Amino acid sequence: MDKGIIKLAPSILSADFAHLGKQVREAEQAGADRIHIDVMDGHFVPNISMGVPIVASLRRVTRLPLEIHMMITDPDFFLDEFTEAGSDSFLVHWEGNNNLHRTVQRVQALGKRVGVAINPATPAPVLEEILQDVDQVLVMTVNPGFGHQHFIHTTLPKIRRVRQMIDEIKRGCDLEVDGGIEPTTAPLVVDAGANVLVAGSAIFSDGEGVVAAIERLRAAANESK
Ligand code: DX5
Ligand code: ZN
Repeated sequence: MDKGIIKLAPSILSADFAHLGKQVREAEQAGADRIHIDVMDGHFVPNISMGVPIVASLRRVTRLPLEIHMMITDPDFFLDEFTEAGSDSFLVHWEGNNNLHRTVQRVQALGKRVGVAINPATPAPVLEEILQDVDQVLVMTVNPGFGHQHFIHTTLPKIRRVRQMIDEIKRGCDLEVDGGIEPTTAPLVVDAGANVLVAGSAIFSDGEGVVAAIERLRAAANESK
């Protein structure tokens, strides 16, 4: 297994939007590796969140890569706008996309990194034919749509399976997990093979602040190494 260094991707879904720039700067200072931006349209998932203007604003306050988790029915339609606003990578879902390979090609044509996301009930083998074309896989460890949900433990064998597939088919591809990641679940997903951890509430809803939360999460993630 070749996981390399564990990376942290704070999800701003749980941030205080009245102080978003400040919180993202704190995350950067605390050593966050990228900022995870959850885009929802109320159709693909039962919630709405944020869009292009947030990306444009954050582009001015951080040098960290901005990764866009597209939880929308037609991601292709918005790729240009998000790119112009300063996005660095896109996570697009396998579910509901009849032309996933085309979406992946479109992201690549824009010169951006691309990842494929799968929901908890979606089996790992659906990735087999697309894995060689992507930079990243995102295994959802909750059902997408909301922060503050409980980690679904039955996703752990799937994370192991995806790690095996990556080691066999696409070494160097990131294996990211998203949902319910906090200090008790971080060592479990790292042990299963994840190398990028998205965390929203564990970072932005921690009473001791963003910096302390990131330090605690990083320490927990490294426990299993
Ligand atoms: C859920 C989003 C997540 C969310 C995670 O659909 O994709 O990125 O922010 O939140 P936590 O870390 O609180 O489970
Ligand atoms: Zn997400």
